[in-house]
Amino acid sequence: MPTRDQVIDALRPVEDPELRRSIVELDMVREINVGDDGLVNVGIALTVAGCPLRNEIQSRVTAAVTALDGVSAVALDFTVMTDDERAALRQRLHGGSGGGSGGGSGGGHGHGHAEGRPVPFNQPGNRTRPLLIASGKGGVGKSSVTVNLAVALAGMGYKVGVVDADIYGYSIPRMLGADRDPVVIDEMIVPPANHGVTCISIGYFVPEGQAVIWRGPMLHKALEQFLADVFWDEPDFLLIDMPPGTGDIALSLSQYLPQAEVYVITTPQPAAQKVAALSAAMAAKVNLPVKGIIENMSWFTGDDGKRYEIFGSGGGQELADSLDVPLLGRLPLVPALREGGDTGNPIVVAQPDSEAAKAFTAIAHRIATELKPKKVFSAALKVN
Ligand SMILES: Nc1ncnc2c1ncn2[C@@H]1O[C@H](COP(=O)(O)OP(=O)(O)O)[C@@H](O)[C@H]1O
Ligand SMILES: [Mg+2]
Repeated sequence: MPTRDQVIDALRPVEDPELRRSIVELDMVREINVGDDGLVNVGIALTVAGCPLRNEIQSRVTAAVTALDGVSAVALDFTVMTDDERAALRQRLHGGSGGGSGGGSGGGHGHGHAEGRPVPFNQPGNRTRPLLIASGKGGVGKSSVTVNLAVALAGMGYKVGVVDADIYGYSIPRMLGADRDPVVIDEMIVPPANHGVTCISIGYFVPEGQAVIWRGPMLHKALEQFLADVFWDEPDFLLIDMPPGTGDIALSLSQYLPQAEVYVITTPQPAAQKVAALSAAMAAKVNLPVKGIIENMSWFTGDDGKRYEIFGSGGGQELADSLDVPLLGRLPLVPALREGGDTGNPIVVAQPDSEAAKAFTAIAHRIATELKPKKVFSAALKVN
């Protein structure tokens, strides 16, 4: 028969699917009983009642314990953490002052946030690279590029989060296929994840089909909460899917993400390139560096194998030259890319060997390696 400690050791590698930490470390493992007949009883305290991933936790725990010699069966006994236990867990994972307790003196650190929890990305020593995916207008592929680059970076072994900053025209949950609502633990928002990428979007907080009609200060507040109240857990990259154009949201973000790098998406035609140049001008105004241009919808390959340049050519390169930054890549126009966005299966995972997926992966690679900021992030490189 395994000992109680052996059972705990077997459970250490088991992660909570949402918090992505060991269930032992999270204090979710409670009573353990090993019977003479090899029946092991494991008590599991869920973080919240009605935890949507309870079945997933059950199968992970059962598999881990069943693998031990002498175990004939595993029985789980689920309970739910108390408010105090949740508060302690949130404090341990996320710091800051507690949810609901409000205005305690001296508890929080930093002043970045009204509730006392700072935006982690503007704190000294934070190693996350925020990547702003911007363009002058809508429909050029910002969200598609954001999602596919995020998934490509995750596939390279990086920890990646996405902020859907397009509050009025949110699209990330559907494109990423991350359609389960976030779990909230003592006011800490645990971001949903899919394809190895976590994300947050206003789409999780407004009723389906309802328009968001907020003024500037509300947008500012929502973005602040996306950055400060979400348990990002210090990702390597935080991609920000920007709304079209320039304005309020870019201003807010430059304040919360002073280290952000801007990547501008354009289509090949000269008109689009001029509009895209406006977002580069905006970036300059708020002191954020444009690090590269990505050209989308550059060509369509016909059944005859020929490349048709439907939207003209050269716009990406011209924009890159005029800003003196690299053109990081050109992406073909492919129906599968749109389908992947509609069904939550980004082409990078759905058809990894396709021309488009390879182009995304190559761009992700350039961003991760070639465009890596010199000093601050050198310790953060995880691949190879
Ligand atoms: N390279 C591409 N090939 C095919 N469809 C694309 C491509 N890029 C974007 N799309 C489609 O064009 C539409 C607009 O793209 P989207 O990423 O939502 O743009 P934006 O976020 O800039 O408004 C979406 O339906 C998307 O699926
Ligand atoms: Mg979009």
